Parts: sequence; C-alpha cells; structure tokens
Amino acid sequence: MQSTADIGLHDKTVVVTGASRGIGLAIASAAADAGANVVLASRKQHGVDAAAEEIRSAGGSVLAVAAHMGDGEAVAGLFEKAIAEFGAVDGLVNNAATNPYFGPMLGIEDGAFDKTIEVNVKGPLAAIRHFASQGREGSIVNIASIAGMRAAPLQGVYGMTKAAVISMTQTLAHELGGVGIRVNAVCPGLVETRFAQALIDNEEILEKVNDKSALKRHGQPVEIAGAAVYLLSDASSFMTGQSIVIDGGSTAN
Ligand SMILES: NC(=O)c1ccc[n+]([C@@H]2O[C@H](COP(=O)([O-])OP(=O)(O)OC[C@H]3O[C@@H](n4cnc5c(N)ncnc54)[C@H](OP(=O)(O)O)[C@@H]3O)[C@@H](O)[C@H]2O)c1
Repeated sequence: MQSTADIGLHDKTVVVTGASRGIGLAIASAAADAGANVVLASRKQHGVDAAAEEIRSAGGSVLAVAAHMGDGEAVAGLFEKAIAEFGAVDGLVNNAATNPYFGPMLGIEDGAFDKTIEVNVKGPLAAIRHFASQGREGSIVNIASIAGMRAAPLQGVYGMTKAAVISMTQTLAHELGGVGIRVNAVCPGLVETRFAQALIDNEEILEKVNDKSALKRHGQPVEIAGAAVYLLSDASSFMTGQSIVIDGGSTAN
C-alpha cells in the first residue's frame, strides 16, 4: 500500500486514443507532464505526429501511432507497437469517438449507426481486451459524456453509445478488479473542440447550453485532463467503476 497520494505517472506508459487534438491531446500532454511515456493514437499519422512533436518539445517521451478504433487489427497493432517501444502499458485512455449523425434518433441510417457503435463501443472494448491480456495491473479511463447519462436530443445514438461506455465501465470494474485493473469514466459536458464545433458555432444552442450550466460557460479541453491523470495515477487506487462528471454544473439539478 502506498504511503502518499501520488498523482504522478512516473515509470508508467499510457496509451491515449484520439490524441491528435482536443480532449485527447490535453490528456496526453498532462500525462506526459506528470511523468508518463505517452502513446498517441488517431486515424491520421500526420495528426498524431504533430501532437507528438508538441509533447516531445515540452520534454515528454512519446510514440505516435495511426490506428482507427473501429478496426480491430489496428487496435491490436497499437498495443503491439506500444509494448515494443515501452515494454508494457500501465494506463489506457479510451478517448476517440465519432458522431456522424445529428438529428432525430429514428432517422439514423444503418451505416452511421454501425460506425458509431464500432468506434465508440467496440473499439474501446477491444483496446481494454488487449490491455487486460498483458496480465498486469493498471488503470483504464473511458471518456464517456453527460449525453450518456440522460436524454440526448438530436444525438440519440451517440448518447446511447456513451451510456454503453458507462455501463461497460461498471461491469469491467468488477470483472477486472480482481487482477488489479481499475476502470473509471469521465463524463464531460460541452467542451470547445472540433467535435463540438457545430454546437459552439451555433449561438442559439451555445447560449442555451451555457445558461443551463452553473458556471454559465462551456469547458476547455485542459479542464478535463486533470481528472484523467488522477484516475490513471495511484492516487485513485481505491476508485473503480465510477464516472466523474465535469460539466460546469450542467447536470447539477
Ligand atoms: N467536445 C465535447 O463537447 C465533448 C463532450 C462530451 C464528451 N466528449 C468526448 O470526448 C472525446 C474526445 O472528443 P473531442 O471533443 O476532444 O474531439 P476532437 O477534438 O474532434 O478529437 C477527436 C480525436 O479523435 C480522433 N479520432 C476520431 N475518430 C477516430 C477513430 N475512428 N479512431 C481513432 N481516432 C479517432 C481524432 O483524430 P483523427 O481525425 O486523426 O482520427 C482526434 O484526435 C470523445 O470521446 C467525445 O465523445 C466530447
């Protein structure tokens, strides 16, 4: 049992998916600042290369891998490369997600439905399977959303996948707790990223969302990163199966 609350990530290797920008890049940068070797994954090699350069120039130890989270072989390759470079993976942040359809839930076409499930649910599950197959302790952080905790008008299937992520977090916490793997989730509210650009650019929606929040504003990616580092670190050693909501108080009602 550790004697201090160590929020550092020294001697740990952390894989972050969807790490070329937005919340994933903020988490990867914060993890590197906390001492971790970080493995950045996203679909486009040039995106993760640029992010890796940013982290490297700040003194971080980093590997950039192109991996589509909807492609099982790519997810396997991501873990192979991470382990070949750093020996083992101690932390996994399942952050990559997609939301190809915006509209009433019943209007979604099969292709968009399947893609949302593949990237947001099957991908994270596959990554966790590779993580667990190492047979060592560690910490997994799934980036869910407040859209998975209540109705998500016009983003229904996306919200459904995030509810699945929260459920997966709880079940896997039980199934993997015995071997020392903790599984937690972070549920952000509206955060200014490319993913949320359509909402941020729509003044009417933005005003409504921000007005509902206790802090009367939306968030920035860096405001999600600290919780992820905490969950990856030994400071959260007694915490598993939980979801931390970071939404400026939007759901505090
Ligand atoms: N922004 C918000 O308001 C908000 C709120 C709640 C939850 N979230 C969650 O936060 C997470 C990060 O979103 P973000 O807002 O930071 O988005 P973002 O800025 O658009 O970044 C998305 C990242 O995921 C990568 N990506 C997209 N599809 C991928 C795939 N199939 N396989 C691998 N990587 C993929 C992108 O790079 P490539 O294009 O190179 O693949 C990029 O690095 C998501 O899980 C999202 O659901 C966001």
